[in-house]
Amino acid sequence: MKEHEMSSSLPTTRLPAGIDVPVLGQGTWNMGEDRRRRSDEVVALKLGIDLGMTLIDTAEMYASGGAEEVTGEAIEGRREEVFLVSKVLPSNASRSGVMRACEASLKRLGTDRIDLYLLHWRGGTPLGETVAAFEALKQQGKILHWGVSNFDTDDMEELAGVASGEAVQTNQVLYNLSSRGVDFDLLPWSRQRGIPVMAYSPIGQGDLTRDSKLAPVAERHGATAAQIALAWTMRQPGVIAIPKASRPGHVRDNRAALDIELTETDIAELDRAFPPPSRKRPLEMI
Ligand SMILES: NC(=O)c1ccc[n+]([C@@H]2O[C@H](COP(=O)([O-])OP(=O)(O)OC[C@H]3O[C@@H](n4cnc5c(N)ncnc54)[C@H](OP(=O)(O)O)[C@@H]3O)[C@@H](O)[C@H]2O)c1
Repeated sequence: MKEHEMSSSLPTTRLPAGIDVPVLGQGTWNMGEDRRRRSDEVVALKLGIDLGMTLIDTAEMYASGGAEEVTGEAIEGRREEVFLVSKVLPSNASRSGVMRACEASLKRLGTDRIDLYLLHWRGGTPLGETVAAFEALKQQGKILHWGVSNFDTDDMEELAGVASGEAVQTNQVLYNLSSRGVDFDLLPWSRQRGIPVMAYSPIGQGDLTRDSKLAPVAERHGATAAQIALAWTMRQPGVIAIPKASRPGHVRDNRAALDIELTETDIAELDRAFPPPSRKRPLEMI
């Protein structure tokens, strides 16, 4: 079987708008920083698309637009296969700022539309103004949907009260074994409302690959610690993981992590090693 023929087998989750997206995508933070690494990064992203990880997450912030350029190169000629996510900085979250930032992102991405446009984190601009700008971009066809990132439960509640706030499609937050405060409230809150959460840094920016507490579970599955960390973030419905991998071996391992079925024993062991929150913790972000 050719690698791209495996793509149809990726499980999906449904966004409130009714679109099904793969529960495993690809991140791009730190890509586009160094011209010498650019072609390797493009190759890695293309391989990921071949393997069905067609949701790509980028942002105007990453490498000051460089990651969007790498993404643009990787999706050239295959835009239709990809679900493209990018983000606007809070410093550009005013109405005119969002319009300008989106135009610049589209240019760097080499496309005429972003599938899902996120507010990277909350800044000083009133939420209503940013949401109105997102809705205007939707009207113009420059974005298909919008969402938020680094929003805690109270921010999500506030967003729900803003005009068109109910059109939010996702909240992208830090979620991995070492940073699992959202298990207490934000994840159940989001699941109840049918809003998938996008888990960023699912491998702890690489730190979890070196965590010996994962070794026994990894050994039982003949897997790596990174794969177990990834499988753990995707263990429940309504979570989309977006690991970043610039090495082909890592890309393949991440795809294979989807096939790992963690048992109750594994989950209990991981809960002992990385205790779940027993009370509200403020949302962590990096
Ligand atoms: N919204 C936000 O505020 C926010 C914040 C942070 C991140 N994000 C998004 O989330 C994405 C993922 O988070 P992240 O990049 O911070 O961290 P991450 O995905 O947890 O970790 C990335 C690191 O793990 C390594 N890696 C990937 N797959 C591996 C594997 N199978 N085995 C061993 N090592 C592996 C990568 O190495 P190689 O690159 O060498 O393969 C890289 O060093 C970002 O790229 C970005 O798109 C969003």
